[in-house]
Amino acid sequence: MQEKILDFLKKKQEYVSGDYMSQRLDISRQALWKHIQELKDAGYDIVAVPHLGYRLISSPDRLYPAEIQAHLRTKFLGKKIHYFDCVSSTMNMAMELGMNGAPEGAIVVAESQTKGRGRLGRSWLSPKYKGIYVSIILRPKISPLAAPLLTLLAGVSVCEAIKDLTGIDAQIKWPNDIFIHNKKVGGILTELNAEMDVTRFVNIGIGLNVNHDKKIEGLHATSLKDQKKEDVSRVGLLQELLHKIEANYLLFQSQGSAQVIDKWRHYSLTLGKRVRIAYQKTHLEGEAMDIDTDGGLLIRTDFGTVQKVMAGDVLH
Ligand code: BTN
Repeated sequence: MQEKILDFLKKKQEYVSGDYMSQRLDISRQALWKHIQELKDAGYDIVAVPHLGYRLISSPDRLYPAEIQAHLRTKFLGKKIHYFDCVSSTMNMAMELGMNGAPEGAIVVAESQTKGRGRLGRSWLSPKYKGIYVSIILRPKISPLAAPLLTLLAGVSVCEAIKDLTGIDAQIKWPNDIFIHNKKVGGILTELNAEMDVTRFVNIGIGLNVNHDKKIEGLHATSLKDQKKEDVSRVGLLQELLHKIEANYLLFQSQGSAQVIDKWRHYSLTLGKRVRIAYQKTHLEGEAMDIDTDGGLLIRTDFGTVQKVMAGDVLH
């Protein structure tokens, strides 16, 4: 009902009479008033003037499904949105949903997470109403070995969305850290549900520091607000992000990984640099030469050999 009321108010951008809405929605004036109060509690600025009716002044930058879907330019991504004000981790929810047969393109968004997860067992700070914390359920017909390519695809899509929405140039530190001016602004965590050679579903978790204040971020992190010196629309950014991920995913499905890998090279902060890669108790040093067709990083070591790494932490 509230979505229908918002529809009326958004379309008109003027006062809409209470009588008119209650007749069209077949509810009493009192019920309408109650729904309007609930919308106000949810952050919508709605004014009521006797004899004129209700008018929507502004919508909150909340990741409500209705807000995200209002101008979403996708065919299947985000058509089903599971929204949480607070959740342990969107990855946990997405895993449960995936196991219960959630359709490809369903997403889980949260305004905050209490146990946000990062790569390699780290945690992901997820303060309320500040960032984007989203997990996307995909059911690609690919071998589990090709799943890292979807991480690269997500990284490219994040950079494209940031550029289109804010004009800021973001880069990717292999495999999936999003950086702006050498500070981390986001990360991607991919989880897989698969048998030996069949992928059942892949969950791509994306965390982005959008309107985080400086003190939350720590020394080596940044946020889009920190870079732009103004608030950035989380709804607008998520819509753009979903659009880019779907476009790149369709490209990947129809033409293979070559274009996604080329785009990744373009956004890479790592290629051409001298790197030290730590994974568990080992490390490897050399020059980051290129990215392989399966998403692995090719390192030319000081002994002249070329080695491929599939996971680890990169120090430039
Ligand atoms: C990293 O850089 O280590 C990856 C961070 C991924 C964080 C996102 S936030 C949404 C999703 N839910 C989680 O618990 N983690 C991912």
